[in-house]
Order: sequence, then structure tokens, then C-alpha cells
Amino acid sequence: MDKIIIEGGRRLCGEIEVHGSKNSALPILAATVLSGGKCKIHNCPALSDVDAAIQILRHLGCKVIREGHTVEVDSSVITVSEIPDDLMREMRSSVVFLGAVLARTGKAEISSPGGCEIGLRPIDLHLSSMRKLGAEITEEHGRLYCSLGNSLHGADITLSFPSVGATENIMIAAAVADGTTVITNAAREPEISDLADFLNGCGAKISGAGDSTVVIEGVKKLHGTCHTVIPDRIEASSYLIAASATGGRVCIKDIIPAHIGALIPVLSEAGCDITTSGRWICLSAPPRLKRVKMIRTMPYPGFPTDVQAIVGAMLSVADGTSVIIENIFESRFKHVPELMRLGAKISVEGRMAVIEGTKYLTGANVVAPDLRGGFALITAGLAAKGETVITGTQHLDRGYEAPEKVLRLLGADVRRINENDGTEKQQTRQLAENVGKPAGESAENRADRHSQEADN
Ligand code: EPZ
Repeated sequence: MDKIIIEGGRRLCGEIEVHGSKNSALPILAATVLSGGKCKIHNCPALSDVDAAIQILRHLGCKVIREGHTVEVDSSVITVSEIPDDLMREMRSSVVFLGAVLARTGKAEISSPGGCEIGLRPIDLHLSSMRKLGAEITEEHGRLYCSLGNSLHGADITLSFPSVGATENIMIAAAVADGTTVITNAAREPEISDLADFLNGCGAKISGAGDSTVVIEGVKKLHGTCHTVIPDRIEASSYLIAASATGGRVCIKDIIPAHIGALIPVLSEAGCDITTSGRWICLSAPPRLKRVKMIRTMPYPGFPTDVQAIVGAMLSVADGTSVIIENIFESRFKHVPELMRLGAKISVEGRMAVIEGTKYLTGANVVAPDLRGGFALITAGLAAKGETVITGTQHLDRGYEAPEKVLRLLGADVRRINENDGTEKQQTRQLAENVGKPAGESAENRADRHSQEADN
């Protein structure tokens, strides 16, 4: 395995582009099974979760070619409708293949995905929704056996919770159902809209995606299409927060500022100056952040649970006490004991974390417990005095493409080495071109230029 070594205390300054959204690419790759033709997905991030989705597609019989950040899927021939346990376990969100395989082949056999580091991750809403669309589902020995008694038919489905994955599974399956499906209390995340755009590009008739009522008018057949995945709002948020924790100044280009609307007021309350213009966002952080009184994670457009851990790391060095309430997942504070090894003063009570900001953190050896908790440790390590060594980097590889390269280009002193032989890791993944730009003009000037543009 690898480890990431950070010599903290340097301000992050510069300009980066983020990659395509992991949480958009995954359901779209699953949905290619339904097209029955050739789909070209651009801006697909090079992540281990995407690798896992490609493995599942190939197992199902699809031909998949990946060139850089473009993945071409030919799903003309689907040979199997079961996904083996080992492939299901590779990727937590593999349940999103259920709707596509069921609708394409009339049956599906998958494993119950089981819980993960951040919670039990039940799929009751997925299963009840598939049943409403006509599926018969039995569970035995951890495997789910699904089949379509008659056809897949439209239904009115009200979700008790605006589940992202359940909304995606319903949209995918209902796209080729007989009749119309209406989802009430649908998830509103941008990734839902991106999936709807992809499916409509394949000939589906979906309206209302991004709102809490989505209408899917079933069509007989879909076809292939080309689609470009939206920028990753969580990756963008992660780098903005890391820069804030170091008193830095960064600009992120080719992002959709509206997608991080809930983060901006939090960073402003912490004392950061933020300007946005078109697909740019620039942030300039003060030498010492202010505390943020209360953050509650909520379904989109509320504050995203996926950046809760990272903001908590940032607030560990703020002036004052901040409170975070995690309303989405039941155990998303597993990174807190590791942050405390760096000197953070955090107490957790159920779904509430109370963060008493300290003047500085000091480097330590820590272990990433999960994907976003891992980036929280990176953020803390960047702000800490001295050296921080992070293991458990396999979690990070699920959702961040070459984070050490992006951070180095923002001026961080960060290396990734192989734990066994101590050699510096050569990036094995295809790196995004322009993954980060050394600040040609200074970040200050660029930020000023963009803020002037914004003012004009
Ligand atoms: C998606 O997970 C994202 N993953 C998660 O990002 C994200 O945190 C989450 O949405 C919330 O925004 C992908 O898109 C691949 P949910 P998903 O169904 O679909 C409960 C990351 O870090 N629930 O909206 O699994 C569930 O237990 C990952 O990138 C049920 O009770 O999230 C949770 O408490 C982590 N029954 C809440 O709903 C169900 O059938 C939100 O889950 C389904 C969900």
C-alpha cells in the first residue's frame, strides 16, 4: 500500500481544474447497460470506484474502452444478469446497477451491498421502488434475486427520504417501463440532473430532474449517446476547504458554482473572501479562520454530508468553537480520533461534533478510515506544523484523482510513497491534463482578475 507524507504549514496558492464527478459517472456508467448501443462518456474521472464499475460492465458482457478521461461502453450484448459478490463489494454503490440490469434483461441477481465505514447503507427504498415498478425480489444468503413477473410498468413512487441512489435506480428502470412513473420527494442533487441528461440523450423522456418531483415517461427502447460528466462538486469543495485551512488563495476553473451553494456561506462565515464568475470560483482565506457556529448536513441543496469531515478538519484550527450535526449518515465521524492525534479538540455525541478550534495542529501518523475522512486528514496535515503520514490511501483513491499531484501544484509539500519499498509513487492512473496549473500569474493576481471580472 501507499502512504501520503505531508510537511504542513504551507499556504495553498494557485489554480486548478477539478475532474468529472464520481457520483455522476457511476450511475451513468450503470445506465449505459440500458442503452443497448455505444455510449461515449467524457470527463470520467480515473478512480478505483470507476475501475470497479467498468469491471462490472465487462462482467455483464459490455465492451468497455477507456482512453484518458473518456470511457466508451458498447452494451449491444449483455450476456449475464448477475453480479458476483466480489464485484459488488468492490464498490459500495454498485446497487445502482440493479435498475439497469433488471430493465435490460428482465432479471437481476446482486448481493445486498452491506454497510460501509459511514453507515449501514440500507437499500429498502431501492427494493420497495423496484417492486412498485413490477419487480419480484427475494433475499437469500445475502443475495437478492429479482425478476419481472410481467413487464416493468410505470408507478407513482413517494420516497420517505430523498435517497440519491434510489432516485437514480428508479429513473433508470422507469426509462423503459410501460407507462409513466412519477417520483415524489426525489433527490435533487446535480448528479440526478446529470443522469437524466444522459438518459434523455439515449432517448428517454425524463422531466423535473433536480426538483423533488421527477416524471419519467417510459419509452420502448433507448440508444447510444455521447455525454460529458459534470464537474465534481465534492472534489472542488475539498480543495477549497483545504486551501482555507492553510490561509491560502486558490481559484478553481470549470466548476458550476451553484453546485456548491451551501458551502459558500460557511466558508464566508469562517472569514474567507469568495468570488464566482461563470464557471470560476476564487477563494482567499484569512491567516486565522473564524469558527462557524452551526453546520447541519442536509440533502441537496443543503450542506453536503460528503464535505462534513473535511470542514470539521478545517474548523479544528479556527478561532472559536464550531458545531456540526450529521443528519444523513449514522457514523460519519470515524475520522475524529485521527484528527485528535494531530491535536484537534473535538467531542462527538451521537450525530453532533463540537469542535474547539486550536491555534495549531502538529503532525502525526494517522490512518484514513474512509474516503472523505481521508481527505479530512490531508486537510489537517496541510494545516499542521511538522510531518503527517497518512496510510489507508486506498480509501482516497476511490474519490480523488492524484490528490498529491493537485496539492503539490498548489504549493503543498506532499509526497506519496510505496509503504514497502519507500519509492515515490509514479502515478499509475491516467492523469487529467491540466490537473492543476502552476500559478503562471500569481494566485493573488488571478483571484483579483476574476473578482474584477465578476464585478464587471
Ligand atoms: C450517494 O450515496 C453518494 N454516493 C454519497 O457519496 C452521498 O453521501 C449520498 O448520496 C448522500 O448525498 C454516490 O452517489 C455514489 P442516499 P447513496 O441513498 O445514494 C438512507 C461519497 O463520499 N437510505 O441518499 O447511498 C441512507 O442510509 C459518497 O462520495 C435508506 O435508509 O445515499 C442514508 O442515511 C458517500 N434506505 C440516507 O438515506 C435506502 O434504500 C442517504 O442515502 C437508501 C438510503
